[in-house]
This record gives sequence, C-alpha cells and structure tokens, in this order.
Amino acid sequence: MESQKPIVYICTNLRPEHSPKPSCARRGSEKFLEIFKQELNANGCADKVDIENSGCLGACEDGATVMFFEEQIWYGNVQESDVARIVKEHIKEGKPVEELFIRRLMTRRKAL
Ligand code: FES
Repeated sequence: MESQKPIVYICTNLRPEHSPKPSCARRGSEKFLEIFKQELNANGCADKVDIENSGCLGACEDGATVMFFEEQIWYGNVQESDVARIVKEHIKEGKPVEELFIRRLMTRRKAL
C-alpha cells in the first residue's frame, strides 16, 4: 500500500568539484536524511511525513534545498543546524520556518 503521508524532498545532487553550478550535496545535504530521521523520532512525529533524497530540484543557487511537496514550501540555504528547527517548528508545530523560505519558488501558494 502506498504511503499517504506528505513527502519532503531533500536535494542530494552532487556536481563535479569544479562545476560552475553549485550542488546541494556540496553544501552538506547528504547528511540531512539521517538528521531528519533522528529529529522526527526525537519529536515523536516520525509518522507525519516521508523524507526522501532527490535529484536536483532546480533551485541550485539557493541550496541546500529542502521541499515540502504538498505544501509547495521551499527551504533554501539549509544547514545541518536548521533541520532540527524545521522538524520542530514546521512538522511538529505546524509553523513553517519563514526565514528559510525560497520565496520566488512558492508561487503555487497563497501570498504569505
Ligand atoms: S543541486 Fe540541489 S537544487 Fe539543484
């Protein structure tokens, strides 16, 4: 049976070291999945979302990028230290972390 939980994508795309275009894995995103899982468990909300690594989400200049698919919420310049906050405030408390938004990509949402 397919999961009905909202999906959170973590871009873990890795470009070559001297690529002119940045990539999220070079900004630390490959560690995010494990940190998300730890924080979801610690906050008692592991059953609230599915977290998946993804290829490039097209927001490379703003990476590392995390995207809440159903809500069309895009987080940019995400650091390891931001993951705990995203889990606690957004997933557990239902209050997205506005200061990490990539606002130009949230066009399918109502004005915030
Ligand atoms: S490399 Fe992560 S959004 Fe493109």
